[in-house]
Amino acid sequence: MGQFVKVADVSEIEENQPYCVQAEGHTICLVNLGGEMKAVADTCSHADASLSDGEVDGDEIICPLHYASFCLRTGEAKQPPADDDIRVYNVRVIDGAVEIEI
Ligand code: FES
Repeated sequence: MGQFVKVADVSEIEENQPYCVQAEGHTICLVNLGGEMKAVADTCSHADASLSDGEVDGDEIICPLHYASFCLRTGEAKQPPADDDIRVYNVRVIDGAVEIEI
């Protein structure tokens, strides 16, 4: 089991807007999905694009470069050209702080 690292205050994170956060050398895309915090690897599995520059559509994040999409709940690649899933991180909110398990 990893350790939880604070990456943001809940009050800073707008709903359905991706944020790029850093934790212990990991670059992570953080999304408040209708009140549920979700965190996935920020780098697209297709090429070197930052998913936090993309858009949220339903429970998916769409890559800004070639428009692959990934499920924010499971990390599953849902639309080509990406074939590989991306990592999902556990997130918790404690006393207004968003923490990600590394
Ligand atoms: S870099 Fe994300 S779809 Fe190509």
